[in-house]
Amino acid sequence: MNSPQIINAPLLLIKGLSVSFETPLGRVKAAEDVCLEMQDGETLALVGETGCGKSVVAGAIMQLLPHNACVQGRAIFGGRDLLGLDEREMARIRGSEISIVFQNPSLALNPIMRVGEQIAEMLRVHKNISRNRSLRMAEDMLRRLGMVEKEKARMYPFQFSGGMNQRVMIATSMILSPRIIIADEPSKGLDGTLAREVMAEMASIKDQMGASLLLITHDLMLAKDVSDRMAVMYCGEIVEIGKSREIFSNPLHPYTIALLGCLPERGFQPIPGSSPSMINPPIGCKFHPRCQQCREKCRRKQKMTKVEGRREVPGKDECTDREVRCWLY
Ligand SMILES: Nc1ncnc2c1ncn2[C@@H]1O[C@H](COP(=O)(O)OP(=O)(O)O)[C@@H](O)[C@H]1O
Ligand SMILES: [Mg+2]
Repeated sequence: MNSPQIINAPLLLIKGLSVSFETPLGRVKAAEDVCLEMQDGETLALVGETGCGKSVVAGAIMQLLPHNACVQGRAIFGGRDLLGLDEREMARIRGSEISIVFQNPSLALNPIMRVGEQIAEMLRVHKNISRNRSLRMAEDMLRRLGMVEKEKARMYPFQFSGGMNQRVMIATSMILSPRIIIADEPSKGLDGTLAREVMAEMASIKDQMGASLLLITHDLMLAKDVSDRMAVMYCGEIVEIGKSREIFSNPLHPYTIALLGCLPERGFQPIPGSSPSMINPPIGCKFHPRCQQCREKCRRKQKMTKVEGRREVPGKDECTDREVRCWLY
């Protein structure tokens, strides 16, 4: 008997997500026709330069965007469209089924509440767990994130370094064992080694919980180290998506090639030109004014196309799952 289709249904399916903002200068098209799938247990990295629309995608699916945002599309999770839920239903999902770690702990943490209490509050509010038990669970989560001394849970955010507060945020986001954790620039403000340490701890707890991680970052090396698949975003659009190691070993979209070329280990080559305006973006491929392969047809809209027949290991019949928004492929 054929297994029912539902088994293969992705954990989260984002389809045709477009977000624009009305501003006094015009309409900012921050995300356009974004399509992404997240499978159970996987880590998907959403990468691209600052301002390309990564946080807007996360904000849209969590319904955390300001009122001047116009959101279209679908985000199917557990058979329901998150974009159509009312605030009460969404509040139930936030934190318990999908949680988000923001990039700035000093804005997200309550300065006058002990960190252990902040983490434990999630358990009390969502799961009705007693004060004592929730505090013990909070201490345990902090310990798993490398904060071993019990008295750490009784301290306030201002007594901690940036890295320690980042761990508190991560503990808060994971304490309810959500199915999906969205980490928006979790390494911002931390130095390289510390960022990797925090990320490794987070990835290991996420694996133990069987959760999926959407890692939003402009740090390509971090994405490469942690993610299974990677989506590259440019000026509000996904231009390439595929397995992270394949994108690194064989980038296809001219923007992905240029972005990887900016890495110090790959020659530090800046991309010519500058990021386009999101109010009046270039018509057709948004990268065409900066692309060395630009032809007349680049001025027409490009579709995401599955790239068939390219394999990481020659002779190995493996499907690459790569999609690219460029007529070259
Ligand atoms: N509330 C808002 N009003 C107007 N424009 C916004 C708003 N929020 C974000 N933007 C714009 O949307 C674009 C994408 O922003 P963002 O998703 O924060 O980028 P990233 O996370 O990739 O750095 C940027 O051009 C930003 O200026
Ligand atoms: Mg951002």
